[in-house]
Amino acid sequence: MDLERILFSQGFGSRRQCRAIIAAGRVRIGGEILTDPAAGFPLLSPLDFEVDGESWRYREKAYLALNKPAGYECSRDPQHHLSVFHLLPPQLTTRGVQCVGRLDQDTTGLLLLSDDGAFVHAFTSPKRKVPKVYLATTRHPIDDAQLAALRDGVLLHGESKPSAALAAHQRDERLLELTVLEGKYHQVKRMVAAAGNRVEKLHRERIGGFELPATLTEGQWCWLDEAELAALRRE
Ligand code: URA
Repeated sequence: MDLERILFSQGFGSRRQCRAIIAAGRVRIGGEILTDPAAGFPLLSPLDFEVDGESWRYREKAYLALNKPAGYECSRDPQHHLSVFHLLPPQLTTRGVQCVGRLDQDTTGLLLLSDDGAFVHAFTSPKRKVPKVYLATTRHPIDDAQLAALRDGVLLHGESKPSAALAAHQRDERLLELTVLEGKYHQVKRMVAAAGNRVEKLHRERIGGFELPATLTEGQWCWLDEAELAALRRE
């Protein structure tokens, strides 16, 4: 693939902007400055390049995990808070990365993002029930009746069928671990409310077989490798 197309596909701007970046001597591969937009590179093995001294690897599709802090909306066009896209390099937004499902602005933890439409659809489709593990800090102590209600199913306002948690465990007096398969609007908060308690803080810890990496501090993101993508699909 030629250098201009490589930069374009990775979100460095329009074709014209990518040509200008290359012509200005801002791109290096293997330490060498390249100024020819038509220079070709095989993409069979990973291609690493630098733009303005920053390292990148060519990726046909982008898959990433963000440790979402509170106070960020999962939208490019946020209404009241900052956007999670402010936490990512602009190249990722330009190449069309989107949130894989949404977390509320006050929810923290694991958020996946990708520009692979099939992947986004697979993980957000109501048909494909991917387990998601949340930690909810509750206002009142959790009791057995609440846990049983969450496991057996609670009727959410405006729904005709009850929503049941795949698993509900008490980790501490007011700390609930809840595994849900669906991703309805305010799902966990509404379920906990229907069970007679209230969520004060919510954190997503895991999706499928992939857990938020302990090394990823709030606001940080990382690329997902093949093994992590396989773990995600492991339910
Ligand atoms: N359930 C909620 O209530 N909020 C979230 O952000 C995610 C799941």
